[in-house]
Amino acid sequence: MTQPYDPAKDGAEMDFKDRMSYGDYLSLDMLLNAQQTWTDTHDEMLFIIQHQTSELWMRLALHELDAARNSLLGGKAHQAFKMLSRVSRIFEQLNSAWDVLRTMTPSDYTAFRDALGQSSGFQSHQYRQIEFMLGNRNTAMLKPHAHRPDLVALLEAELAQPSLYDVAIKALSQSFSLPDEVLNRDLPEAYQPHAAVQAAWTEVYRNPESHWELYELAEKLVDLEDYFRRWRFNHVTTVERVIGFKRGTGGTGGVSYLKRMLAVELFPELWHLRTEL
Ligand code: HEM
Repeated sequence: MTQPYDPAKDGAEMDFKDRMSYGDYLSLDMLLNAQQTWTDTHDEMLFIIQHQTSELWMRLALHELDAARNSLLGGKAHQAFKMLSRVSRIFEQLNSAWDVLRTMTPSDYTAFRDALGQSSGFQSHQYRQIEFMLGNRNTAMLKPHAHRPDLVALLEAELAQPSLYDVAIKALSQSFSLPDEVLNRDLPEAYQPHAAVQAAWTEVYRNPESHWELYELAEKLVDLEDYFRRWRFNHVTTVERVIGFKRGTGGTGGVSYLKRMLAVELFPELWHLRTEL
């Protein structure tokens, strides 16, 4: 009789009494004990894991976006491009994840929805931080975090920094003259599109050869926003499929609120210039 294969004979490590194992390195005990269900319904585990994995990917997106912003500020555009490509891929991954959640029917969700209370992704501080970091800034979105001064401080610290789009415009200003109201705007406020910025980006697209780095930066940003928009669209479609036009647990109109968010533009001039080309 052939003996079952023993990987130890091939050198596989089998004794972790005094050594760091896979589970130790990844803090798996903590991670895999964080799926606290509040009901005994079957689909709540899917709902929790879908949100938790999304938050983990958002954590990585923040890490990459912050580094991309610093690279751009430091004049290292190519390093930033690599990170921005990764963030687009992260959103692509999050977009595919909706296919798993779509297997949850309204009947499945209704069975545990009450257990959520008023909690909702609307209160995701990481999602808000991503929006603030990219350039979609709305201080009204700080309010759901008022009970957590640490999170308000984190989000306010983000608002005090130039957004990724502010930094991209700063890079643009090295080749084109841009007005002071754009370059020294009040950072926590919402960005207002400006004709001079659009004219400059338009020139970049008319002469890519002369402004290749800015052209590449612009396309990286458009790519990222494209994936971000698809995430919003997949979210609202899944929400309509699961709760119809009910109000959200977070108190908004639900689908009506999310449809309104579809109109948000992160990098407005980069979209508007296309009509002029
Ligand atoms: C069946 C699943 C889901 C339903 C029914 C749902 C429903 C909703 C609704 C109705 C809103 C609007 C705010 C409110 O609650 O009133 C919302 C916002 C939000 N949800 Fe979901 N959601 C689902 C899955 C997810 C998942 C998996 C994520 C991933 C983290 C997520 C993240 C968010 C975020 C970030 C917002 C805020 C969007 C914004 O302010 O633009 N949702 N969700």
